Formats: sequence, C-alpha cells, structure tokens
Amino acid sequence: MKFATASAVLLAASAVSAAATQKPLRDLAKAKDIYIGVAIGNGNLGDAKYTEIMKREFNFITPENSMKWEAIEPKPAEFHFAQGDEIVAVAKAQKAEVRGHTLTWHSQLAPWVNSATWTKENLTAAIERHIRATVGYYSDDLTHWDVVNEVHEDDGTPRQSIFYKTFGNVADYVELSFREARKHTTKAKLYINDYNLEGQNVSKSDATYQLVKKLKNKGVPIHGVGLQAHLLVGQVPTNMQATIEKFASLGVDVALTELDIRMEQPFTAEKLAQQGNDYEAVFRACLAVKRCVGITLWGITDKYSWIPGVFPTEGSALVWDENYAAKPAYDGIVRALTTKATKPKSR
Ligand code: XIL
Repeated sequence: MKFATASAVLLAASAVSAAATQKPLRDLAKAKDIYIGVAIGNGNLGDAKYTEIMKREFNFITPENSMKWEAIEPKPAEFHFAQGDEIVAVAKAQKAEVRGHTLTWHSQLAPWVNSATWTKENLTAAIERHIRATVGYYSDDLTHWDVVNEVHEDDGTPRQSIFYKTFGNVADYVELSFREARKHTTKAKLYINDYNLEGQNVSKSDATYQLVKKLKNKGVPIHGVGLQAHLLVGQVPTNMQATIEKFASLGVDVALTELDIRMEQPFTAEKLAQQGNDYEAVFRACLAVKRCVGITLWGITDKYSWIPGVFPTEGSALVWDENYAAKPAYDGIVRALTTKATKPKSR
C-alpha cells in the first residue's frame, strides 16, 4: 500500500516535470500547422489550476455549453450572450481563436423549440432568427462555427429531431442553416459536426459524406466537417487517416472537434499507457492530412469531464488527471507533434 502510494506520487511528479520542461502544446501544434483547442466550461474559470493550463497549452477554445441554443435563446427571441462573451474574452486574452458550438442541434435545444407544433414555414423563421442573432452577434469574434450537429442516427438514417420531423428530410434544414449562417459572417468557417464519423461506423460516416457532397454540389456554403472523436481506449479506428482524407477530398477542411478517449473504470497504468498511444495515433492521423486543420480536446481535466455523467462506468478520458497531473496522453501528443515528418503543405 505504502509502496503503491509512493510510486503513484513519483509517477505524477515525473509527468508534471516532463510537462513543465516541454514547450507548450500550442507552440508545438503551430509549428506543425494545426491549432490545438480545448472545450471550456464557464463554471470552471474560477479554478486557478484549470485556467493556468488553458492559457499555457491552447490556442483555440470551444465553449463547452454556453453557445448552445438552450443557453443563448432559452425563450423565443430572448437572447443571452453573457456566458458566451466570457469565453470570447478569455480566448482573446490568450490570443486563442473561438469555435462557436452549436446552432441547429436536437440536444440542449431550448424546450420551447422541442415542444411547439411547427409548420415548415414558422420553424424556418425560428431557425433563421436564432442563427441571425447568434452568428451576427459574434461575427467579429468567431473563426469557426458548428452550424449543424449530429444530424444522423447511429445507423446513418436521419436523426428523428424536431427539425427532421418538421421538414421531412435532413438536407433542407441543414442547407437553410448554412445559408443563414453565411449571411451573418464572412469570417467563420462553417462546419457540420458529428460523432462516430472517424471510420468505425461506416454507414454514419457515409451518410455524412453523401450529405456534404450534395450540399457542395448545390453551392451551399459549407467549409468543414467536424469529427467529434469521442473515442474508446484501444479502439482508435485504424482507418481514421483514410476517413479524414475521404472527407477532405470533397474540398472541405476537417477538424477533430471534441477529442477524448475514455476507459472502463478503474483505470490502470496499462490503460493509461495505451491511452497515450491512442492520443498519439489520433494526432498523427490529423497531421498526415493537409486539410486536417486542428484538434480540440473536450476538456482539460478528468475532474470536470462529461464522460462519467453519460457513461457511468467509464472515465479518465482526458489528458490531465483529476489532480492536474499530465498523463501519458500528454507525452503521446508531444510525440506526435515533435516527430520529424512535417505536415503536407499547401493549404
Ligand atoms: C456535452 C458537455 O460536455 C456537457 O457538459 C453537457 O452536459 C452535455 O453536452 N457532443 C457535443 C457536445 O456536441 O456539445 C457535448 O457536450 C458532448 C457530445
């Protein structure tokens, strides 16, 4: 018992010192021509250790919850931007870009949108108003927007959202969302975003591919595909690079927007080592594709990760543990970002 505690402390101490002597991830990522981002929860900004890592390591920020529909427009035409503003201010202070997240999404949607009986016409008007107000408000600040999120079910069929049910298809409300967003920003790259697109779920990834192709052919202003990358330890899809290349071949950017790699609890040293290799593999897959523009981690520390709340037997998905010690995942990322091979150029 005593021995285990001492070695755990030693392990943590060596991880911290490795992290402390290392150049910040943001410098390493920049040298490789990608950004490195993190999802930030407003409620965590009072935690000094949290903000220290946020400032040191990241040059790109996504608000974890504060730009979602339920947060921004909880009642019809009643807009709340204070929490989003706080994220923008924090990002500016550390010269980080901000990704807006997210406009048209079935989840964390304001209850009034879900509970109303809509016609296609008045739901169109509600979506347009939400996007006009939100994208317009942040038009000087944001460089990326997740315009639509999670439009397909896991089997690749249309997600049965209020949007789908009202419009009768996916393409129309998606097209409408992108066109409206484009009217209010020329600065932000506009993305479609989803999970299980990394290669493991072929039907879902194909459905997204076909949708993006269709939108591009119609001249809809879509600039990127976001692969959320909520992954499982030991199960990084071996075809991840090929999948990124496939999306990029449509003439869009690709970003890994919500990376975390979870494991069954309790964690072990072996699982954490595997997780380090997994983070390395994910970064390498992005670095190998010239249109893979950046990677965002879905949080800093296991202390605040969303995983245990949604997958109760799992956790330890992020790069810093609950006490802010850098895990082997940190070294895995550094290995990928310091490898000699350079990213294919010409973006
Ligand atoms: C999660 C947040 O991390 C949690 O704090 C919140 O309670 C639920 O949403 N896909 C997404 C993200 O696009 O917005 C989700 O974030 C995680 C899954």
